[in-house]
Amino acid sequence: MSITVSEGLFRLDTAESTYLFQKTAFGHLESLHYGRKIPVGDPESLRFKRELTHGSAVIYDEQADPVYCLDDIPLEWSGVGKGDFRTPPIEIRMPDGSFTCDFLLDSYRVESGAPKMETLPQSTGGEAQTLIVTMKDAVFPVYLDLYYTVYEAENVITRRAVLRNEAKEPVLLREMMSYSLDLCDRSYTVTTLSTAWIREAQVIERPLKAGTIVNESIGHSQHSGNPALALAACGATENDGDVYGFNLIYSGNHRTTVELSAAGLVRVTGGVNPHCFLWELKQGERFETPEAVLTYSCRGKNGMSQNFHAFVQNRVVRGDWQKQERPILINDWEACFFQFRQNSLLRLARQGKKLGCELFVLDDGWFGARNTDTAGLGDYTVNPKKLPNGLEGLGERVNRLGMRFGLWFEPENVNDDSDLYRAHPDWAIQRPNRAPSLGRHQKILDLTRKEVRDYIVENVSKILDTCPIAYVKWDMNRKVSDFTDGAFLHRYVIGYYEVLSRIFRPRPQILLEGCASGGGRFDLGQLCFAQQIWASDDTDPIERLKIQGGLSLFYPVSTMGAHVSLAPHQQTLRNTPLSTRFAVAAFGAFGLELDPKDLTPIERKSLKGMLNTYRKIRKTCQFGRFSRIETGDPHIVQWQAQSEKQTVVLRVKTLAPAAQWNDVVEVRGLDPEKTYALRQVESPLFVSGFGTLLKHILPVTIRSYSHLLLAVNKHFRMDDYRESYRASGAQLMAGIRLHRSFIGTGYSDKMHMQGDYSSMLLIITEE
Ligand code: GLA
Repeated sequence: MSITVSEGLFRLDTAESTYLFQKTAFGHLESLHYGRKIPVGDPESLRFKRELTHGSAVIYDEQADPVYCLDDIPLEWSGVGKGDFRTPPIEIRMPDGSFTCDFLLDSYRVESGAPKMETLPQSTGGEAQTLIVTMKDAVFPVYLDLYYTVYEAENVITRRAVLRNEAKEPVLLREMMSYSLDLCDRSYTVTTLSTAWIREAQVIERPLKAGTIVNESIGHSQHSGNPALALAACGATENDGDVYGFNLIYSGNHRTTVELSAAGLVRVTGGVNPHCFLWELKQGERFETPEAVLTYSCRGKNGMSQNFHAFVQNRVVRGDWQKQERPILINDWEACFFQFRQNSLLRLARQGKKLGCELFVLDDGWFGARNTDTAGLGDYTVNPKKLPNGLEGLGERVNRLGMRFGLWFEPENVNDDSDLYRAHPDWAIQRPNRAPSLGRHQKILDLTRKEVRDYIVENVSKILDTCPIAYVKWDMNRKVSDFTDGAFLHRYVIGYYEVLSRIFRPRPQILLEGCASGGGRFDLGQLCFAQQIWASDDTDPIERLKIQGGLSLFYPVSTMGAHVSLAPHQQTLRNTPLSTRFAVAAFGAFGLELDPKDLTPIERKSLKGMLNTYRKIRKTCQFGRFSRIETGDPHIVQWQAQSEKQTVVLRVKTLAPAAQWNDVVEVRGLDPEKTYALRQVESPLFVSGFGTLLKHILPVTIRSYSHLLLAVNKHFRMDDYRESYRASGAQLMAGIRLHRSFIGTGYSDKMHMQGDYSSMLLIITEE
């Protein structure tokens, strides 16, 4: 049993964690423990003691208990105006016009599975159990249902809250979070993913001091604030220590607060952002909050990540592609942008096929007057000049090459220069008395309106049913402006989910990739529909180490769209080796974002070999147990993915020092008793990268600027030394001593040319 209740003590257990709370004499719910799995007899040692109060404390009921001060009690939920001055999870104007509210335990029940939500997507339930605790305001018939769904194997407890108004008068919600969790202070570090377009998911770590840290976004979940957050107790590392993780199954604007109070309690609240939020609840109405996902691990940040990865793969992502290896795709965007014809697309598809791609994706520009980003959005008529045989004709031709066909849409937006906007200017979100603010020259369609949702559902569905489409990229390239209030933003998201449900639930065979100017809107709400999300428009592998590494804290590798593009990179001008571009994208839903024509013949041949290798490690990389390995060197990043018989290790040098020491690679999680074969994936070196060093290696002198060198570079490659060993798991885990890296003193065919941005991909196979 994962949920037990006895004498007012509520106990929730997962495989590795225990969550405990208890009713107080007044009916509040006092949190006792969330953390390591523990047996509990008398819970007294877990109680946060309160024999004395602070000088300025407000006492809840002085006569009944002179030291009962809500500010000093860890609580499962809190109200307003009764002495708890920490961040409240709720702000509600009650029927008497005041904001004072006080929720007390009324009843509880336990259900199997996850009770169905009415408006928002949620985790899939299955064999989970749910505790529903009903609280009632001390004065008015305003009820609060707290839902706790326990996913034992994944070590996850989801929480959400529903407010029900049974009072005759309406109540007005100004803020309603999904959960509130109070923990004792352990000198936590708060980790969030933040920043900007092409610099998504950067790991921001802040020590929690007195006061509040806020992680939020406005409009929808954005580049500038992913809804996920972690709390690491003092001393926690990647592999050890207590780490808590929080996320929301929601794509709208969100807020998570972490507050350290004067009493030494840490309160975490998370849910819909109260920014401009006003929601009226009439008698008999209910408001449901998004489902929040909480996890705890005593196995450090990797333990937290692995809990989230399992939960997302088992309980969030769904459809036929839930656990299927993602097809290797080639996307035409960076190869063609808006300039293409059917023939040029088919040439690209053919070349992709030759390299080993399995899916061809036609990105932006196939519809209406879409020759730049200033026109066409909102229209679904195919451009006959570009595609004389229509999408159907193109799709069939791509299929005949032996590839699947995929298509880009951006259904939530409209350009003024579109047939849709000319016919229905009122369908765009704008205020009648103000000039509208545009983003990427476009306005957002008002998905709170049924006719707008119907228009999108009908048009997208028609294309999906008449063309052989196996994959959809659903883009959203601007932030919301000109909205009325936060309630509108929430209704927009509800409308958006309705659209996705109507299109994709009846078509589970379609692989859906979410996208919002790269990795905006990378969240669990999206992942209830999209099996993967484009992690960033930035495909520079060195930047991707930060982006995919940051995302890996909370999201599995299978959900991160990751492509190989050209170097120097379009956004960073960084010139990285092809092998590193490949190896980093291998830890993602892999694809190519380039025109193979822009590669030399030898690069094409090498890439083909890499894709061939990828098919042999794809399952492990995308669905294996993923860990970040601490190397102790800020310029060496190491990841590892492990399936039953195979371990894949990626090691990237972002900056190579002069006179490098011998590298030692740490591997984890092998069976000490078993024997393994380790081999390094081939890593081609192209001669143009060596400059005048060639003089020392080659018997003839070739100048670094000569035509001869260019010709040689097109057709010949050298290979980096490839490590290969056969040893027990115990021996490999003792650290693999690599051959030397280049240190400027000479050349040996047994050394590694490991300069800046170089990488190494090791495959360890159980024998
Ligand atoms: C966004 C996406 C890109 C591409 C373009 C097309 O920027 O992130 O991948 O689809 O739109 O306009």
